[in-house]
Amino acid sequence: MAASIEIPLSGGDVTEGVVRVGDTVRRPLGPQSPAVHGLLRHLEDVGFDGAPRVLGVDGRGREVLSWVPGETPRRPLPAYAVSDEALAGVARLLRRYHDAVEGYGLAEGAPWDTAASNLDGEPELIGHCDVTPENVVFRGGVVCGLIDFDLARPTTRLYDVVTALRHWAPVADPADRDWRLYGVDVGRRMRLFSDAYGLDRATRGELLTASRVRFERSYRAMEWRAEQYGGGWARMWHGGAGARIRRAQDWLERNWDELDACL
Ligand SMILES: Nc1ncnc2c1ncn2[C@@H]1O[C@H](COP(=O)(O)OP(=O)(O)O)[C@@H](O)[C@H]1O
Ligand SMILES: [Mg+2]
Repeated sequence: MAASIEIPLSGGDVTEGVVRVGDTVRRPLGPQSPAVHGLLRHLEDVGFDGAPRVLGVDGRGREVLSWVPGETPRRPLPAYAVSDEALAGVARLLRRYHDAVEGYGLAEGAPWDTAASNLDGEPELIGHCDVTPENVVFRGGVVCGLIDFDLARPTTRLYDVVTALRHWAPVADPADRDWRLYGVDVGRRMRLFSDAYGLDRATRGELLTASRVRFERSYRAMEWRAEQYGGGWARMWHGGAGARIRRAQDWLERNWDELDACL
């Protein structure tokens, strides 16, 4: 591919102006970017291969990251992205990421994007905090990388797992799920994810309560981001993101005992 051709990348909802140039990705810098770059450099230093490398800032003031070869699932989700193997692969990748980031100082890189506040309890590590299908790279149908660390911040392993499960189990009203996930057994998928991650018993017991807290927090955080940042955040909010969270909360409460029994 000619090194100067810019191909727009529209997978995510939020960041405008993400482009691919050759084997690199160019993204606008934000207040959190220095912190994110420190994190990505740490991941490179410890040999974690499932994240982009920071290559610098280009002449137009954009961050330059390495292109992670493969594909990120689009909606409607392809069959490979909803398989048990994919779910377990995401869990194992998140675990590897957590183990790789554990030694990284929590105060090292601030400011992080902490609009989601810190109801997570005493932070243990820098979580990715946005493990959606659009932010996971597959190669040949196999999970191989995490991208888009813009929402990374100090949190707990539990809350990062809860965020991933929100999208991957998914903890959502069936009406709001991708069609291939409409009728899945969410409790079984939560257990499969927890097993593949290696979540200990005690933490597993906190999953549902943490999901409840997280929904309330992300409702407020998304509303706040839509007001403060506008752009893609406002589009998501006015496109019904808040109502989807409310429906997911109701679904969680209605199915609590059944999910609890699975975990
Ligand atoms: N380093 C990368 N390697 C491979 N694909 C990428 C990379 N960065 C972005 N992409 C692609 O571009 C899309 C949008 O980029 P992303 O950084 O997730 O922006 P947003 O903040 O809008 O979610 C992703 O879903 C993915 O398809
Ligand atoms: Mg993204």
